[in-house]
Amino acid sequence: MKRIGVLTSGGDAPGMNAAIRAVVRTGLDRGWEVFGIRQGYAGLIAGNMVPLGDREVGGIIQRGGTVLGSSRCPEFKTKEGQEKAVCRLDRQQIDGLVIIGGNGSQTGALALSRMNFPVVGVASTVDNDLYGSEFSIGVDTALNIAIEAIDRLKVTASSHQRAFLIEVMGRNCGYLALMAGIAGGAEAVVIPEVETDPEALAKELLAAYERGKPHAIVVVAEGALYNAEGLTRYFRENGERLGFELRSTILGHLQRGGTPTAFDRLLATRLGTAATERLSRGEYGVLAGHLKGEVAITPLDVVASTKKPLDLRILEWARILAR
Ligand code: ADP
Ligand code: F6P
Repeated sequence: MKRIGVLTSGGDAPGMNAAIRAVVRTGLDRGWEVFGIRQGYAGLIAGNMVPLGDREVGGIIQRGGTVLGSSRCPEFKTKEGQEKAVCRLDRQQIDGLVIIGGNGSQTGALALSRMNFPVVGVASTVDNDLYGSEFSIGVDTALNIAIEAIDRLKVTASSHQRAFLIEVMGRNCGYLALMAGIAGGAEAVVIPEVETDPEALAKELLAAYERGKPHAIVVVAEGALYNAEGLTRYFRENGERLGFELRSTILGHLQRGGTPTAFDRLLATRLGTAATERLSRGEYGVLAGHLKGEVAITPLDVVASTKKPLDLRILEWARILAR
């Protein structure tokens, strides 16, 4: 191996830059040339690549987002798009690729691997829904942003004895909502994995006031059937009968734009380094993730075909701890 590429794909996640830096410097240390591919798979198809040296990745470890840019690229889901990408890589004489991203991006990595191109993935998504990694790059930062928002809402909610819902990201996965709910001391959590009855939720919130709480906070996952939109509509239509209002805050992309925490920088550094080492050992078609405190290597076909389970026992703690 002489020349490798690195790209970031899908939703940007705080810590992606630390991973890019680790891949570039580990690759250069092996005596390779390293190319940065801009805008994810869209840049790969277009051949948008630049050589990266040590100094090009200086001063980025502390920055959120991705200096390489990212994209959602429908064309890469097609056979033609994937063939164009491999042609670009061959033309540029790139013989290995590190792909930093979430579920969709790693499914794309698997497609390249099935075309016999050497790839290694790095687990990175704020949703934390990627099989093969207990924590993905960006989750810790996103969680910290969510709990800061919950802490702030609690201050104003307590001053007025109000009920608030806060919607967090996560696509179809309730991980961010559940963990933010526990770490933020919420009264209730609504996630896609468990059906929610808004009437029962209203009773839970009223019960919190009856237990003497000055506030009621519900953390809601964007992917839940009753997300911010659904619950807001329900409480607007039934608020008078229920006897209280539910004010809504949608955190949205604010969660993705944070400065990476120490945990995310270290995780990204470990995974970026491990992925590059795997390329140098000729171990391809795998994802570098994090399991039980260690770097874990999982075949991409297993990653792409397995749904990461959410431990629903944790939802029970959330209920007990909201006493
Ligand atoms: P994430 O990687 O954060 O989950 P996406 O699901 O948007 O984000 O995926 C990022 C990109 O990965 C997509 O825009 C597409 O280019 C590529 N991708 C997603 N799914 C597939 C697939 N089934 N086959 C090939 N490429 C895919
Ligand atoms: O996958 C990361 C994520 O932030 C999800 O939580 C969210 O549903 C989605 O990306 C938003 O995508 P976009 O930034 O393309 O609107």
